Amino acid sequence: MLRVQLLLKPAALPVWTPALEAALEEAGIEAALATDHAPETVDYVIYAPGGGPVDLSPYTSTKLVQGLWAGVESIIENRSLTQPYARMVGGGLTEGMVEWVTGHVLRHHLGMDRYITAKDPHWDQRVPPLAADRGVTILGLGVLGAACAAALVTLGFRVSGWSRREKALPGVNCHHGEAGLSAALVEAEILVLLLPATPVTTDLMNADTLAALPRGAVILNPGRGALINEDALLAALERGHIAHATLDTFKTEPLPAAHPFWTHPGVTITPHIASETRPDAAARVVAENIRRSEAGEPVLHLVDRTRGY
Ligand SMILES: NC(=O)c1ccc[n+]([C@@H]2O[C@H](COP(=O)([O-])OP(=O)(O)OC[C@H]3O[C@@H](n4cnc5c(N)ncnc54)[C@H](OP(=O)(O)O)[C@@H]3O)[C@@H](O)[C@H]2O)c1
Repeated sequence: MLRVQLLLKPAALPVWTPALEAALEEAGIEAALATDHAPETVDYVIYAPGGGPVDLSPYTSTKLVQGLWAGVESIIENRSLTQPYARMVGGGLTEGMVEWVTGHVLRHHLGMDRYITAKDPHWDQRVPPLAADRGVTILGLGVLGAACAAALVTLGFRVSGWSRREKALPGVNCHHGEAGLSAALVEAEILVLLLPATPVTTDLMNADTLAALPRGAVILNPGRGALINEDALLAALERGHIAHATLDTFKTEPLPAAHPFWTHPGVTITPHIASETRPDAAARVVAENIRRSEAGEPVLHLVDRTRGY
């Protein structure tokens, strides 16, 4: 019987415990799930942020810490984490992000606000360009960025992307590395940020990189708040260089009530809801990784600590 420790916030337990029990049973894995196993006896830890600081040093025989979130910045620099760490990939995250990104890209591409908010008699016949005449750039071509790029290519957009390493994705004008960033930005009438938060990506969008975008560009940030220098964004919105920012992630969450983003007409806020792990689907991903580990097969989605994501 495997001992699986749940390091989740208490409110998450009633949802996750039955989903994980069902998925483990379906995978034929006998496991005891608890929050209070003696740490040194635990085989697997299942972790999600929000439950307070974690000390993983007493988990001396733990084979894997399995995260339930895609982002890893809350755990990866925890010095007590010496066990392998797998992040969540799948579990509904990709589908949710593709829907959020395509929905918000289409809002700005079609100029939907002009008609939704119009009050007076309004016969404004500005026909939007076709998607083929609209440049969308995605910074970050990982699991989520690549899936969003593919969906936008299918809709006909002129899609560019940027990653750390060189990539080739069908229909996407791929740039990479420091040297490729400015070419990716120049092509971005709509810019989508799907990078992880790392020391290198912090404040990647600053006064200089915002100025490199075409005038009137729109920014969507479902990635991480750390990616944008907020003062620089507000200044670029004030100047009209950036027409609008739709932000799902923020440097401080929840976004403080007094933050100028709340009242700025050029900012739309969605409260970190772009995409969420769905318990039943994600529990099957967890069970598959435990099955692999027990069978001596490679575990999926291990995080490379040296690169920080
Ligand atoms: N708002 C939400 O609800 C929500 C939900 C889920 C995830 N997220 C965020 O979305 C992010 C992306 O998720 P993912 O699963 O797609 O991650 P991923 O598969 O790890 O992809 C990350 C991408 O960023 C690129 N990258 C990282 N550092 C870079 C750098 N310094 N320069 C250029 N490119 C760099 C990577 O390049 P390489 O391909 O060369 O490695 C990769 O293409 C997560 O980290 C998380 O912060 C948000």
